[in-house]
Amino acid sequence: MDDLVSKTVEFVKQKLQGAEAGHDWFHIERVWKLSIKLAEKESVNLEVIHLGALLHDIADPKFHDGNEKIGPETACSFLQSQQVEPEVIQQVVFIIRNISFKNRTETAKHKPIELQIVQDADRLDAMGAIGIARLFNFGGFKNNPIHIPEEKPRLNFCKEEYKKSKGTSINHFYEKLLLLKSMMNTPTGKEMAAIRHQYMEDFLQQFYNEWNVVV
Ligand code: ADP
Ligand code: NI
Repeated sequence: MDDLVSKTVEFVKQKLQGAEAGHDWFHIERVWKLSIKLAEKESVNLEVIHLGALLHDIADPKFHDGNEKIGPETACSFLQSQQVEPEVIQQVVFIIRNISFKNRTETAKHKPIELQIVQDADRLDAMGAIGIARLFNFGGFKNNPIHIPEEKPRLNFCKEEYKKSKGTSINHFYEKLLLLKSMMNTPTGKEMAAIRHQYMEDFLQQFYNEWNVVV
């Protein structure tokens, strides 16, 4: 398995060259390490965790004109080229298809533990100090405004609206980041999310205090 994992690392690094900084190799590496940590207390197929974490953003639809098939297809043909068992491939592809925040209403009720773990890891990386850094990097990449006081967050939006919404970076906290804590799957994920959540609340409080010249 070690050899397959190193080959996958090389494949992912090469595919993600030049990716936006919030979705680059280091995001994958963090999600991979977090996934291993979250898996410690669970009984899992570790091979599926490694491959699922490493390949989960191999072709993000956001950067491929919304095409949701490229990711699973790219992962599938890579894993086939490495003679990975069809059953493992199927589980990894299931993770890639179902991990995303924007697909949350469509995700199957029963989630395999491997999906629960990689999903928690991906969500943790969208929270806390790193989540804040990624959010503003993405907002800058899209040239979105940081904050417009009279613009309210768009909640209860459908998947299509979420994908095309521009919005402000501050509103993205309410549209996504602050919702993640209550969506965590695993006990360890929940504990880590609580700390990262509080950090974001503190950040927002300080942001508004500075905006309103309170401090
Ligand atoms: P997912 O793949 O789970 O649907 P995204 O790819 O939408 O999640 O988000 C990945 C990262 O980009 C996260 O850190 C998220 O906060 C950030 N991001 C996504 N959309 C926006 C946005 N409109 N403004 C700021 N950051 C964003
Ligand atoms: Ni990701």
